[in-house]
Amino acid sequence: MAIIAPSVLSADFANIQRDVEMVNNSNADWFHVDIMDGVFVPNISFGFPVMKAIKKHAKKPLDVHLMIVDPDRYVSTFKEAGADILTVHLEACTHLHRSIQNIKANGMKAGVAINPHTSVSLLENIITDVDLVCVMSVNPGFGGQKFIRQTYEKIKVLKEMIAKTDSSALIEIDGGVDLNNASLLIQSGADVLVAGNTVFASTDPVQTISDLKSR
Ligand code: DX5
Ligand code: ZN
Repeated sequence: MAIIAPSVLSADFANIQRDVEMVNNSNADWFHVDIMDGVFVPNISFGFPVMKAIKKHAKKPLDVHLMIVDPDRYVSTFKEAGADILTVHLEACTHLHRSIQNIKANGMKAGVAINPHTSVSLLENIITDVDLVCVMSVNPGFGGQKFIRQTYEKIKVLKEMIAKTDSSALIEIDGGVDLNNASLLIQSGADVLVAGNTVFASTDPVQTISDLKSR
C-alpha cells in the first residue's frame, strides 16, 4: 500500500489546526510541507512560524519539500521546526552529496527532488545515500497543476536503478496526483503519493485519502 502525504499547501491556513487534525484522523501517513522561496520557484509559500504551527498539532511525520536555493543554510532550523524528512532539489545543490550528509547529521531522513526536465540518470551517484527521491510530476511552485505523463517512464527507470544498487530509497510522486492516475503510479513503482488539491478540494477529504490509499 502506498504512503499518502497530503500537501498542506492546499489546506485552509485560517483553519490550519482543523485541517491538520483531519489528516491526523485519516489514513494518511505523512504531512507534505512545501517551502518556496520565490527564487528557486516563482512563488512564495510559508516559513518557520507556519511550519511550527503545523508541527504543534501534527501526529504524523512532516515530509518537508524545500524549493529554495542554498538549502544548507537552513537545515538545522528545519530540524528545530519539526521536519522528519527533509528533501532538497538536485537543481538547487552544487554539492548535493554534502547537503544529503548534512541533513542526516541533523537527525533527519534525507530526500532529493528532481524537476520534470531532470533525467533520473543524474541520481546514479547519490541513490544509495538518499532515503527518498521526489519525482516532480509538475513544474514546482503551485498546487493544482496538470500531471506530466512522462513521469511514469521516469519511475520505471528509477525503480530499476534502486533495485540494481540495493538502495532503500522510496519513490515519491509530487504534483497532479489524483484518483485516476494513482493506481498506474503505484504499478509503475511509486511508494509515496503527494496530493494537495485532490485531498483538500474534495468534499470528503478523509474518504479521498482512503481512496488514494487503496488504489
Ligand atoms: C508543487 C508542490 C506540491 C503541490 C502539489 O510545487 O511541490 O507538493 O502542493 O499539489 P497538487 O497535488 O495540487 O498538484
Ligand atoms: Zn511538494
